[in-house]
Amino acid sequence: MTSADPERAGAEVGGAGALVLAIETSCDDTSVAVLEHGTRLRSHLIAAQDVHRLYGGVVPELASRAHLELLPALVERALVEAEVTTGELTGLAVTHAPGLVGSLVVGVAFAKAWAMALELPLVGVNHIEAHLHSSSLEHGDSPWPAVALVVSGGHTELVEVRGLGEYRWLGATLDDAAGEAYDKVAKRLGLGFPGGPILDRLAAQGRADAFDLPRPMLDRPGLDFSFSGLKTAVGNLLRPRGEPPYPDALVRDVAASFQAAVVGSLVAKCARALDQTGARALSLGGGVACNRQLRNDLEALCGPRGVALRVPSPRLCADNAAMIAWVGARRLERGERAGADLDAAASLEDSGLPIG
Ligand code: KG4
Ligand code: ZN
Repeated sequence: MTSADPERAGAEVGGAGALVLAIETSCDDTSVAVLEHGTRLRSHLIAAQDVHRLYGGVVPELASRAHLELLPALVERALVEAEVTTGELTGLAVTHAPGLVGSLVVGVAFAKAWAMALELPLVGVNHIEAHLHSSSLEHGDSPWPAVALVVSGGHTELVEVRGLGEYRWLGATLDDAAGEAYDKVAKRLGLGFPGGPILDRLAAQGRADAFDLPRPMLDRPGLDFSFSGLKTAVGNLLRPRGEPPYPDALVRDVAASFQAAVVGSLVAKCARALDQTGARALSLGGGVACNRQLRNDLEALCGPRGVALRVPSPRLCADNAAMIAWVGARRLERGERAGADLDAAASLEDSGLPIG
């Protein structure tokens, strides 16, 4: 190992990254993890806030209040399950951006208080950066260069990754995120929240060619995405049929046609990104990375090209503290430290990553 080998740095040390407690509260999942030597998850808890299902979407005020209530008990529980005392911890990591600012503030304030009380080094972790690397916990270090696709309820980002902190933004959505499109189309169909898993299941039983929906941005060069036109097209085809509930067969066909359009555009842009970068690996992250069609179609894309497809298990696709711990351990090892001025930042543009 050399000091220029940051991917391994967290794994072979007795420094600040050796036993890290990480906190994630950027959206509606409260999550805490304890990670040893940058690789071994000693504990990992995710409390999903199902209360948002009552409202068909995440309600920020309810999310931050739930984080406040859940976090102290989750941290305690994570330490118990990891069989670690606070005195054994070597560092703390917390998501500080991007996300819902009221939710982020809860995690950041908690982590700062703990860092001060326990006299532990603290690092702020970028949530999107953590998604870029979330396959590494299960798949090990990635070969570089890699392309990472982060697809969630708030983000659709395509990034060339050449190592920790070495990113080149290739594309992003110009409007709705892929998961947001799933959630909105599911709502229009009279289905529950979050819509992605429901539409994924229904799509498998429908006809993907039943409706000719637009494949957004495929006719244009570049690696950006757009999903709001697709959502509108679904609305237009349903309008003459009135309001939900719709016949089951119609819902299944809309689900299948919609999914074919979303996945088709994600896969086509991944193919372009692999061509342009000569990447040796494609890593997925974000809740939409759970999608079965997306996984299957990317497997078919990557296999013949000899590109390693790195898909995290569902628990590590969605928002989780394990990925925060992975990045946090390595940043702590590099000597990075957050001061008392560590603040939450809501937008990706203000979060310190090289977007654009
Ligand atoms: O990463 P995540 O848990 O939370 C954030 O948005 O940050 O992603 C949630 C999103 C939701 O929009 C949900 O509908 C979508 O991921 N999702 C899926 C699937 N599972 C979750 N979308 C398509 N297919 C799925 N199987
Ligand atoms: Zn996320």
